[in-house]
Order: sequence, then C-alpha cells, then structure tokens
Amino acid sequence: MKLGDFEVARIGLGTNRLTQSRTNVGFIRAAVEAGVQMVDTAHSYTGGQSEETIGVALSPQPDGCMVATKGGIGGPGRGRPAVLQEEIEESLRRLRTKTIDLYYLHRVDTETPIEESLRAIKEYRDRGQIRHVGISEVDIEQIERARKVVPIVAVQNHYNLAERKYEAVVDHCAAEGIVFVPFFPLRADGGPAVARIAKRHGATPQQITLAWLLKRSPAMLPIPGTLSLEHLKQNLDAAAIELTDEEFETLR
Ligand SMILES: NC(=O)c1ccc[n+]([C@@H]2O[C@H](COP(=O)([O-])OP(=O)(O)OC[C@H]3O[C@@H](n4cnc5c(N)ncnc54)[C@H](OP(=O)(O)O)[C@@H]3O)[C@@H](O)[C@H]2O)c1
Repeated sequence: MKLGDFEVARIGLGTNRLTQSRTNVGFIRAAVEAGVQMVDTAHSYTGGQSEETIGVALSPQPDGCMVATKGGIGGPGRGRPAVLQEEIEESLRRLRTKTIDLYYLHRVDTETPIEESLRAIKEYRDRGQIRHVGISEVDIEQIERARKVVPIVAVQNHYNLAERKYEAVVDHCAAEGIVFVPFFPLRADGGPAVARIAKRHGATPQQITLAWLLKRSPAMLPIPGTLSLEHLKQNLDAAAIELTDEEFETLR
C-alpha cells in the first residue's frame, strides 16, 4: 500500500520492547530480510534503546524499508515546540539518519494547541529532515485541524478486535487517503470464534486477528509488536489469509 511516497507491505513491526543487544540488532535486520517494510518506534520506547537498535541495524537503510518514529508523549507540556525539537534532534542521532521517513506527534498535548506542536514538526519537514508526518490517538476533528498545518499521511490509534472506539476514524482515513495504523493490534482476546476460524484456515488466532484488521479497511496497516522472528513471519503471512464475509461479520 501507499504511505506517502513509500510503497509498503500491509503489515509492519512494532518495537516498543526492543532493547539494545547484538541479538536484537540481528533481529531487526532479519525482520527486514523477511519482508518487513515499515518499522515503528518512538523516542520514548525502552529509554531510547529501540531507536538506537534500529539505527545500528538499519544504517545505511535498506531500500524498500521505512522507519517511523514519534515524539511528544509523557504528560502535559510534552508537545511544546522546544520539547519536540529536542526529541527530533535526538531521534535523528539515534536512528543515524538525515531524514526521518515518518514522524508522528505521539500525543496531543493538553497544554499546547495541536497546531503549535505540528508547526514545530513541519519546520523539520520543510528542511527535509522529516519526510512525512503522522499523529497518534486523535479524533476526526483533530485530524482535520492537523491537516490545515501540514499534510498528514498516517494516523496511529488504539484499535483491535476488542477496542473499537475509533471506527469512524478508520473510515475517515480510508476516505481521505490516510493510512490508519492500529496500535495494540493483537491485544484482544478474540475468544472461541477466533479460535474456530483459525482452525478452519490452519492459522493461529493472532493471524486471524490481523487478517480481520486488513479486511476491515484498505487503509489499515497493523504493526504487531514481537521479538520473535517466528511470530514476525507468521504476522507477515497473515496478509495472505482471506476471511469470508461471514467470518468477518462473526468477528465484528
Ligand atoms: N501510538 C501509540 O501510542 C502506541 C501505543 C502502544 C503501542 N504502539 C505501537 O504498537 C506496537 C504494537 O503494540 P504492542 O507490541 O504493545 O502490542 P501487540 O502488537 O498488540 O501485541 C504484542 C504481543 O503479542 C505477541 N505476539 C506478536 N506476534 C505474535 C504471534 N504471531 N503469535 C503469538 N503472539 C504474538 C508478542 O509477543 P512475542 O514477542 O512473544 O511475539 C507480544 O506479547 C508497539 O510495538 C508500538 O510500536 C503505539
């Protein structure tokens, strides 16, 4: 699918438990070799180790793979331009790159208007140090306010089989050509129906959960988090599972 001017597979990799070790550097390289084309991290993950590990593993960045990071989380005031500038500079250093492929405002600050936070991010985009901009945990009104400041290519919100408060945001993103990245895609107990459908497809319940998300909307790009290469390959393979309309509705 298209994400800004990148063409990426519909399932990416979440890295919020990634700590720095030689094994994990190897894991990220193996993940890209296995077909991951979007690696999702954040300034706040594992005290910076997630970004640092990705920086070591993916510099120079292999063709066809993009890295997304985020900044501005941690409580009131974290979306102030000065804080974001500091975090962006640090992310650029840790990721060992001149340009961050996709940079999200991680949370809308309760003390800073969304426009002000995004203007700070836009300055880096204008200078070519950020290629594309996204926002996280937002409603439609916030998305539209954000888009008046800078083009938004991705929205990353909590969404899975059990957490469905952003249904309207999913549809809005699809209609507007924005990629919807559901975080915590696997944190849902699908129950016996998922287990039954999984058995029918010779798949795991996690694969069925991902297949359901992909069928839910053409805008969907889940980023399941894993530290296991075996799980990662299963997650990528889930893109080939086609649920019937009946199975989809049963899980809906
Ligand atoms: N924007 C935000 O505010 C925000 C907030 C939270 C998270 N995120 C992002 O979303 C990503 C995903 O969230 P998450 O990792 O916390 O939750 P998740 O993807 O819903 O679930 C991860 C859990 O599922 C397991 N798992 C992964 N693939 C599996 C498979 N094929 N079979 C069985 N178990 C599997 C993982 O363990 P194993 O390691 O054993 O595979 C881990 O325990 C994060 O990594 C992060 O990048 C963003």
